[in-house]
Amino acid sequence: MAADPQAINRAKEHFGVILEQQLARIERMKQDKGWTDYTKLKPVVIGVIGGDGIGPMITAETQRVLEYLLRNEVKSGKVKFRTINGLTIENRAAQLKAIPDDVLAEIKQCNVTLKGPTHTPEQGDGWPNIESANVAMRKELDLFANVRPVRMPDQNIDWTFFRENTEDMYAVGSQGINVTEDLGIDFRVITTQGSERIIDAAFAHAKKTGKTKVSIVTKANIIKTTDGKFLDVAAKVAKNYPGITWDGWYIDIMTAMLINEARRHEFQVMALPNLYGDIITDEAAQIQGGVGTAGSANIGQHYAMFEAVHGDAPRMVKEGRAQYADPSSVARAGAMMLEHIGYAEIGKKLHMALDVCGQYEKKVVMTGRNTGATGQQFGDYLMQTVEDPTLESRFNSYVAKKTK
Ligand code: IPM
Ligand code: MG
Repeated sequence: MAADPQAINRAKEHFGVILEQQLARIERMKQDKGWTDYTKLKPVVIGVIGGDGIGPMITAETQRVLEYLLRNEVKSGKVKFRTINGLTIENRAAQLKAIPDDVLAEIKQCNVTLKGPTHTPEQGDGWPNIESANVAMRKELDLFANVRPVRMPDQNIDWTFFRENTEDMYAVGSQGINVTEDLGIDFRVITTQGSERIIDAAFAHAKKTGKTKVSIVTKANIIKTTDGKFLDVAAKVAKNYPGITWDGWYIDIMTAMLINEARRHEFQVMALPNLYGDIITDEAAQIQGGVGTAGSANIGQHYAMFEAVHGDAPRMVKEGRAQYADPSSVARAGAMMLEHIGYAEIGKKLHMALDVCGQYEKKVVMTGRNTGATGQQFGDYLMQTVEDPTLESRFNSYVAKKTK
């Protein structure tokens, strides 16, 4: 069949709009907005969003742990918790909005948020095809750095993924076009500014935490323009960090390397475009013990949102098992939040307690069903552990034992 000029024109117009939006976004990125210094805020407002499915359960459990750990700060008015309702699939579907306006306004009144998983509609699941709330929040608050640590101290694994969080296939993931009945096209967006800021964040983190290497992950041999740009920017940014080496990997072989037990401990900090980061951080989380164990920080210059890596597990709710959902992932995100807002010591303790309770000691085991503990029992275990004055030596002895 000959090309349909009308269809092509429609697609060109559609593409033109996307280009204008993305060029405007670049201009916004170019304005340096500085960073919020949370230690200067009183109070730091922590918004808590339950989300969908098992979200409200595991988030409430984490909030209980955090409120306990920050009890003095809450009392003295340094920290304030605020519950944000309405980021539910029912409300979002009713308003046909990824994030309803009033909910977004409330989120913006908080400095940071702790968020349970929110349901992401997919083709044929009965919900209207609204954009993912996660993705919308990342874009609305410009949370460009998705930081996902994976730690297995006894195996010498200490990875931190810096997943770009606003671009790539996600930037206009809902704005693809069916040019004709047979031709669907999506668009991938990578910008110089967007790449610079995530790669710089990765190097800065490496420098701050005494790491020596950053690995850049792309598929630049095939996706030459956009991944090529990411790689070029990396070479430029690396020049500002003379003490840190960097190397480039392709996403396919990196996926294999993560399960190469002889080599994987060599990786330290990884920076990568959004979709590769999405995929590989699930793999990495699985290596650590499952997506239920991994936390995720979405960081921007003025806001930050902390969440689980996994979804809302509607099946667990349907089968009446929500109370057996493991709160570790949100708790892990909570530990990252503590570090981010200036409570590094408490954050570190919570990380350690999560390692001890979830990976080593396992006095309370979660199975996701009534053969194991409830989230609340795990929360209690976590609170006891985190307050134990011998926590650090307990942690060290487990790591030493396993390493032997
Ligand atoms: C994640 C999730 C989200 C993503 C989904 C829920 C939109 O998989 O945070 O990794 O794709 O980014
Ligand atoms: Mg994911």
